[in-house]
Amino acid sequence: MKILITGANGLLGQYLVRQAVAKKYEVSGIGKGPSRLLPAALEGYIYTDLDITDGAALQNFIVAERPEAIIHAAALTQVDECELNKPECYNVNVTATRFLIGAAEEIKARLVYLSTDFVFDGLNGPYAEEDEPSPVNYYGSSKLAAEKAVMESKLEWAIVRTALVYGIVPAPGRKNIISMVTENLRASKRIRMVADQWRTPTFVQDLAEGVFLIIEKNARGVFHLSGDQLITPYDMAVATAKFFGLDSSLIEKITSEELDQPGKRPPRTGFIIDKAKKTLGFAPVPFEEGLQQLFLDI
Ligand SMILES: NC(=O)c1ccc[n+]([C@@H]2O[C@H](COP(=O)([O-])OP(=O)(O)OC[C@H]3O[C@@H](n4cnc5c(N)ncnc54)[C@H](OP(=O)(O)O)[C@@H]3O)[C@@H](O)[C@H]2O)c1
Repeated sequence: MKILITGANGLLGQYLVRQAVAKKYEVSGIGKGPSRLLPAALEGYIYTDLDITDGAALQNFIVAERPEAIIHAAALTQVDECELNKPECYNVNVTATRFLIGAAEEIKARLVYLSTDFVFDGLNGPYAEEDEPSPVNYYGSSKLAAEKAVMESKLEWAIVRTALVYGIVPAPGRKNIISMVTENLRASKRIRMVADQWRTPTFVQDLAEGVFLIIEKNARGVFHLSGDQLITPYDMAVATAKFFGLDSSLIEKITSEELDQPGKRPPRTGFIIDKAKKTLGFAPVPFEEGLQQLFLDI
């Protein structure tokens, strides 16, 4: 099967590419600028530099490539950047997703769209798939608008909502909670972590496996794919410090209010993942085990 992965340079994208290659799929990845995947050459993998907001280029590319399935992981994922630059966020997260849907409809490709726990307001988490979304920031609104476009399309689709993904990309890229904690504590720098936001952190390897379970089982509809422990970023930072033998006293507990970020964060999200466990056989690892697997990877 030929699979197209957007956001191939991203945290999830890099793991998706490696898993897809290991599964012997024919894999095409797109990202902005040169490929950041390491090792750069993977048998069966072709990378193309393509900005997904260029509708005509995206359309031509998809129609020429004719993938049977598209995993759409590219997005503007920085919550504050989205809040401060709404037109750009809308363009990447919504308009480009519409371009992609149009092209996928033309070649009748299946679509797996990656969405977020930030479609919920965080007042009543953890959430199940049928709970009512109500985003509190622009990033969440843009992802919800894209979800709606996917749901209203003529495609065979699945929407994967995930939460606080952790992993380490073996190439220079954006920081995530693990790299941020380890890099700062190794340099004996103090860090401040919020202790009043709850999430169900997701091991990136589990998430990629869940996406391929959806493709292999031809599953459709909305799926919540995350870990199943409801913890705070502060708890994650302390567990990470302990795991890597770093000084956890450098981690300061703070409230969301103290951070004063441009984009409001939903306080208590996280997912109920019973549907994914039952229908897909999704089996995510506990946070400490995810850390251990990451440690083996690097
Ligand atoms: N990470 C999380 O905690 C989390 C939580 C919930 C949901 N999600 C969702 O999961 C998906 C994957 O997230 P991730 O963590 O892998 O994010 P990521 O590391 O930020 O990856 C997203 C990728 O999209 C690419 N991209 C952005 N604009 C583009 C454009 N115009 N054309 C082509 N590529 C473009 C980015 O390229 P550059 O790197 O070059 O900017 C980046 O590599 C996203 O849809 C996100 O909304 C993630």
